[in-house]
Amino acid sequence: MLYSIDALSKKIEEAIQHISFGSKPGSLYDPISYALSVGGKRVRPLLVLLAANMFGGEVDKSLKPAIGIEIFHNFTLLHDDLMDKSDMRRGMPAVHKKWDANAAILSGDAMLIESYRHIASVHSGILPQIISLFSQTAMEVCQGQQLDMDFEKRSDVTESEYIEMITLKTAVLLACSSKMGALLANASLNDAELLYNYGINIGLAFQLKDDLLDVYGDSKTFGKNIGGDIVSNKKTYLLIKALKTSDKKQHSELLKWISAEKFDKTEKIESVKNIYNELNLKIIAENLIEKYYLAALDCLSSINVADERKKELISLSENLMYREK
Ligand code: IPE
Ligand code: IPE
Ligand code: MG
Ligand code: MG
Ligand code: MG
Repeated sequence: MLYSIDALSKKIEEAIQHISFGSKPGSLYDPISYALSVGGKRVRPLLVLLAANMFGGEVDKSLKPAIGIEIFHNFTLLHDDLMDKSDMRRGMPAVHKKWDANAAILSGDAMLIESYRHIASVHSGILPQIISLFSQTAMEVCQGQQLDMDFEKRSDVTESEYIEMITLKTAVLLACSSKMGALLANASLNDAELLYNYGINIGLAFQLKDDLLDVYGDSKTFGKNIGGDIVSNKKTYLLIKALKTSDKKQHSELLKWISAEKFDKTEKIESVKNIYNELNLKIIAENLIEKYYLAALDCLSSINVADERKKELISLSENLMYREK
C-alpha cells in the first residue's frame, strides 16, 4: 500500500499525542509536551515513513523510530533557541522564555534520552546498524552546531566552510531519516546510500531556505522572529556572499554592523538587508537552493524502484522548496 503525505502526517501526529513521557516532576515534562505539541512540519519523521513506504516496508513498524527522530529534532531546537537567543518558535515563546534556561537544558536532555528509547525499539537484527547511524548523525549535529557558534565570531568564513557547517547541523539529520526508512524496509545498501545522499542535498536546500526565510520571511507564517541571524552575525550564505561581493562602501558598512556592540536591532536588520537587496542575494541564494533540490531529485531518480513509488517523496521535496514556514 502506498500512503499519501497527509495519511502519514496523521499517523505521526497521532503517535506524538500518545507518547507517554513521565509526569513527575511536571517542571521536567511539561516543557517536553509543550515543545512537541505546538506543531512543526514533521519533515524528518515524514522522510522516514515515506522512504520506508517507497521500498514496501511496514509503515506502522517504522513509526516509533520516526517519532524518535522527531523527538531528537525538537531536543536540538530547545538547546538551539537558548544558544541563538531566539525567543519565538512556531509562533510561540521558546521553552527558555516560557520557562527558563535550565528547563531548556534539562528537558532537552530528557528528550535526547527519550529519542534513543524510541529508536532502540527497532527489531534486533537491524538495531546495531540503526543505532550506529543515529549516533554518528547526532554527534555530527553537535559538530555543526559548534561550528555555527564559532563562525559568529569570524568574518572570514568561506562558502565551503558554510556548506560543511550546514551539512553537519542540518542536512545529516534529513539524510539519516531518509536512510533509516530505507534500512527499516530492507532496501539494498546502494539504494539506502542514494537516499542518504538525497537527504544531504534536500537538507542543504532546506537550511539555505531557512536562512533566506530568516531575512525575507513573514514572522507570523515562519513562526520565528525575522532577522535573528543578522542580529547575531550568523555566517549565513547571504552574509558570506555579501562580504565577498560587496563594494568598498557596502563592505565597510557590513563590518561596522558586525563589530557593533550596541545597536538598534531593527536598524541593523534593515541596513544589512538593504545590502543583500542591492547585491541581489535573494535570487542568488534561490538559484543555489534550486541546484541542491535538483541534485536531490537526481539521487531519487537513480533509486531502483518504480517511479510510481517515488511520487510522494518527490512531492514532499517540492513542498520544501516552496515553503514559507
Ligand atoms: C528548524 O527545523 C531547524 C532547522 C534545521 C532549520 P524545521 O524547519 O524542520 O522546524 P519545525 O520542526 O518544522 O518547526
Ligand atoms: C538549526 O539551525 C539547526 C539545529 C537546530 C540543529 P538554525 O538555528 O538556523 O534553526 P532555527 O532558524 O533556529 O530554526
Ligand atoms: Mg536557531
Ligand atoms: Mg542555530
Ligand atoms: Mg535559522
